[in-house]
Amino acid sequence: MKKIIIGNNLVERLTELFNFSQFSKIAILTDTNVAKHWLQIIKKSLKLETSEIVIKPGEKEKNIETVKKIWEEMFENGFDRKSLLINLGGGVIGDIGGFAASTFMRGIEFINIPTTLLSMVDASIGGKTGIDFNEIKNSIGVFKNPASIIIDVSTLETLPKRELIAAFGEIIKHGVISGREYFNFITSKKPGEFTEDELIKIIKQSIKIKSDIVKKDPEENGLRKVLNFGHTIGHAIESLSWKTNKPLLHGEAVAVGLVAESKLASINLRGRAVIIRAITNAGLPTRIKNISEKDILQVMSFDKKNIGKKTLFSLPERIGKVTFNVEVPKELIVNALKHIL
Ligand SMILES: NC(=O)c1ccc[n+]([C@@H]2O[C@H](COP(=O)([O-])OP(=O)(O)OC[C@H]3O[C@@H](n4cnc5c(N)ncnc54)[C@H](O)[C@@H]3O)[C@@H](O)[C@H]2O)c1
Ligand SMILES: [Zn+2]
Repeated sequence: MKKIIIGNNLVERLTELFNFSQFSKIAILTDTNVAKHWLQIIKKSLKLETSEIVIKPGEKEKNIETVKKIWEEMFENGFDRKSLLINLGGGVIGDIGGFAASTFMRGIEFINIPTTLLSMVDASIGGKTGIDFNEIKNSIGVFKNPASIIIDVSTLETLPKRELIAAFGEIIKHGVISGREYFNFITSKKPGEFTEDELIKIIKQSIKIKSDIVKKDPEENGLRKVLNFGHTIGHAIESLSWKTNKPLLHGEAVAVGLVAESKLASINLRGRAVIIRAITNAGLPTRIKNISEKDILQVMSFDKKNIGKKTLFSLPERIGKVTFNVEVPKELIVNALKHIL
């Protein structure tokens, strides 16, 4: 992992933090929501000529058509192998932009300026980039790290509350992986009650938890799978929720996934109750409506984490210990799903 800078009011002094003048051309990729609040501030702060690629917000845009649009804009603007793409936005922007940059002329540099709490604690870290394809989340992508990640908590001022809460799906997951000390801190208040300094502490600690794991297993051959706790069921219900009138945010789907997958785990009853209480107290969902057990099982059968026909899970044994490649019989999965449907 290369340079990660965390603080407040950083977007106003970007040129002190990274050498932007080393690139032949610079484009800023962002979405209309983020552009409204932050694009002009960032352009002014860069003091260099930049082009902008502004896409519609939302997971639906995380597809190959958007990537084509980005490639086209970069070709039209005369981008070469020494150009830079700045990903300004949440996890959707980071994932698409990272993928578009990594594949443009076999790969140009990109930096991430995450503007959602979820992308600050999770999505912008770890080198996974990609898009959804055939309605399967993140099914096409590459591993590639950004040249730098500039995390400015001041950008969270404009983030909708629901988005801030959703990040706690991933943060609670980090707490379960890491242990009681971090878990107790992140559950000591409601998401909206943490001060900016406390959020910086959470971001730093979540990044440390994730990067320590990623460093040991960058391409997810083993240990990195622990970060998938909540995601096997979570990803399935996330994709399925897009077809209902109540689409879930990624962090919300992960929260429901954590509840269901805790039921599969060998963790004791108390540990399981603690996880579920943390999710409820954060204001995250523990159940979903309008999605069938059959559909969830079917989508899970296409998961990238599967090997052959086996559905493998990452599950907690206790708070502070998550194990991976746990095979679970179908009857138990069906039983766990009953608790969230
Ligand atoms: N690559 C990884 O390792 C990784 C890890 C976790 C999640 N992800 C991916 O990240 C995505 C979810 O990311 P997300 O939760 O950041 O969602 P997102 O990028 O869709 O952003 C959420 C919403 O907030 C808006 N927004 C963003 N920043 C804002 C700001 N500062 N002010 C106002 N509005 C703002 C966006 O326009 C969008 O509507 C999913 O696609 C998920 O698969 C990737
Ligand atoms: Zn996730």
